[in-house]
Amino acid sequence: MGERHRERAGMLVTALEEVDPSELREYAEKFADGLIDAICSRGSADIIGEYAMLLPVRVLARLYGFPDEAGPALVTALNDMIDGRERALAGQTHVFTSMTELVAARKKEPAEDVASRMLADPSGFTEEEIVQDLMVMMAAGHQPTADWMGNSLHLMLTDSRFAASLFGGRNSVAEAMNEVLWEDTPTQNVAARWASRDTQLGGRRIRAGDMLLLGLQGANSDPQVRTDGSALTGGNGAHFSFGHGEHRCPFPAQEIAEVIARTGIEVVLDRLPDLDLAVPAASLTRRPSPWLRGLSELPVTFTPTPALGGTLA
Ligand code: HEM
Repeated sequence: MGERHRERAGMLVTALEEVDPSELREYAEKFADGLIDAICSRGSADIIGEYAMLLPVRVLARLYGFPDEAGPALVTALNDMIDGRERALAGQTHVFTSMTELVAARKKEPAEDVASRMLADPSGFTEEEIVQDLMVMMAAGHQPTADWMGNSLHLMLTDSRFAASLFGGRNSVAEAMNEVLWEDTPTQNVAARWASRDTQLGGRRIRAGDMLLLGLQGANSDPQVRTDGSALTGGNGAHFSFGHGEHRCPFPAQEIAEVIARTGIEVVLDRLPDLDLAVPAASLTRRPSPWLRGLSELPVTFTPTPALGGTLA
């Protein structure tokens, strides 16, 4: 790894690891409750489009330094940008402009947030570089965390091993989330690496300059490792879903993603305890993407309940 990349990784780790865990949990709960308030009296909802795709970006925006008022527009803009269709460019422009304004404001007046900590880092990255990194941290953080939540809720709704947790027990939320990282990971393939020297991998010759795609879901189900083909549950965290080596997902980012996804799932189970699939499981579809694996929709039904109020959506 180049020296500059090492310094950059150090800056990201320091800025993220100083996130206060109880504040993180509080934001995640507050935004999750706000989103449930918007759907709970209806008795039915799409838990992907109306919940999972709206939550991580709100929490991350708050941690990075945005005021809550900026949240809803960032949610729309970031999802438009990721969606890659006609509104993608306008979405990207909004996120970029907002990020540039945030970094300029924190340069003048630092606060207790990720943007300020990145600016204060002694490695002296420019404001432009920090804006680019925050863009990556927003996009790389939001969608996989939303898919982790969605794929875990899908597993819990369709696999009888998790039925008990849907009716009040929470014990297996962590288990479902870990199983998803092995069996149904959001980051199924990652683009791309270029080999820096000739080498051999899995009996294949790789030449310097060859482009490599990282098949993380493939590695997780490698028959040489999973000789009996069984599902890997329990606490085994030796999967590749966060990458591996110097470019892997920074450890504090993994922890933040875990808290957001777990809190998001727990709030759903607390607030909509008799949640059930509204359609046959076989009719559910995945977004068409070779990279990130997530559901297009997860329609559910539940007994309507009144909103809690006093929370932000
Ligand atoms: C709070 C949410 C998250 C943040 C802020 C975040 C941030 C990042 C950043 C900054 C990188 C680039 C590291 C580098 O270039 O050195 C990265 C890479 C990566 N992240 Fe995350 N991430 C988050 C959630 C997730 C989740 C939920 C997953 C998967 C379940 C994931 C999987 C990965 C993978 C596979 C890579 C690429 C590894 C590679 O290129 O080899 N991340 N993440």
